[in-house]
Amino acid sequence: MNILILGGGGREHSIAWAVMQNPKCDKLIVAPGNAGIAQIAECADLDILNGAAVVNFCEGNAIDFVIVGPEAPLAAGVGDRLRDAGLLVFGPSGAAARLEASKSFTKEICDAAGAPTAGYGHFTDAEAARAYVRAQGAPIVVKADGLAAGKGVIVAETVEQALAAIDDMFGGEFGDAGAEVVIEEFMEGEEASFFVLCDGETALPFGTAQDHKRVGEGDTGPNTGGMGAYSPAPVLTDAVAEKALEEIVRPTLKVMAERGMPYQGVLYVGLMIKDGQPRLVEYNVRFGDPECQVLMMRLGAQALDLMQAAAEGRLAGCAVNWADDHAMTVVMAATGYPGAYEKGSEIRGLAECPEDSFHMVFHAGTGERDGRIVATGGRVLNVTARGASLAEAAGRAYGMVDRIDWPEGFCRRDIGWRAL
Ligand code: AMP
Ligand code: GLY
Repeated sequence: MNILILGGGGREHSIAWAVMQNPKCDKLIVAPGNAGIAQIAECADLDILNGAAVVNFCEGNAIDFVIVGPEAPLAAGVGDRLRDAGLLVFGPSGAAARLEASKSFTKEICDAAGAPTAGYGHFTDAEAARAYVRAQGAPIVVKADGLAAGKGVIVAETVEQALAAIDDMFGGEFGDAGAEVVIEEFMEGEEASFFVLCDGETALPFGTAQDHKRVGEGDTGPNTGGMGAYSPAPVLTDAVAEKALEEIVRPTLKVMAERGMPYQGVLYVGLMIKDGQPRLVEYNVRFGDPECQVLMMRLGAQALDLMQAAAEGRLAGCAVNWADDHAMTVVMAATGYPGAYEKGSEIRGLAECPEDSFHMVFHAGTGERDGRIVATGGRVLNVTARGASLAEAAGRAYGMVDRIDWPEGFCRRDIGWRAL
């Protein structure tokens, strides 16, 4: 089978790594890829938001199966264009991708599904939004409705902060994403991510993870795209996962199918868990990054079979073959991230890191210059390991971090502290 993966971060490197282990994979191309991906697969320069260009590329390269990594091509309907052209695709339609692209859409689907989530109001004008905040009080959560690259959510501790967030959003700070605003009840509890493969009808749990969003140790400082993750998530016990499936995921899939937009792909179910009761924080229509890296490390080659079964509508009867293992990924980022940072610094020592089914350094933001690996982004490496316990996985991951010689980078030394 000839496979194309769309995307070029650590998430896509880990998917490529797992897919390559499956003997079914004859040829793998990743677009655009990065310097780490280029060591295991062919990389192609392709505008992945342009459906016609991606279809053309697939036809020219005899691609059989396309795996879409990030949300932007899904929201732009690239999956639809590919399916219209007769290609097999892992990832939802543009209509179903609104579960990530529109927060008010998701809230409305939750209402129809009876899925437990935060109470909310949906506003298209600032005055009504302000009145709602004054009536509800703080803490309260203000969200831009559309895709805002993870920046459109303000957890306001005071009414004044919430009012300022409303002004920013309606003032255009998040562009079109903030033309509509969702204001939510603040939910307390512990957050965890639940990944579920879906084929339009059947839901197959595909692993759990927790990530660390804050840049600083002890979960302090500004929010980032994620500084590390581990799987499984201890708070997401089998009982909580079963509740989340019964009360949130399956009713959502049923409503989506009834409305003519069956959901196919991976559903990232962000949960807030309190006293054993899960409530939905958000859906994403793709794997989390860096959560995907720990899932792929644990799943290995079977990830391809299961993603293919989802795309072909054959998930009923499929099962994940879990080992009794744990995985951790530590993100190495450029000094300054998530604020301003330098690009182009050289990373040495990668060749000293083992590469096997227990150890892998996935590249998130790297390029190659004269045979050297250089940093090209904020989050740059995902140092990932697996072990019989989380402590063993952590020891292996930090052992690799210590071999990497990159003075311009940094990482958190406490990934997994809650579970350890
Ligand atoms: P989202 O982009 O919806 O995942 O929101 C980003 C982060 O904001 C989440 O991971 C939570 O930590 C936090 N958050 C979002 N909504 C709520 C809520 N209703 N109550 C508490 N925290 C929330
Ligand atoms: N790690 C969070 C996300 O991928 O949205």
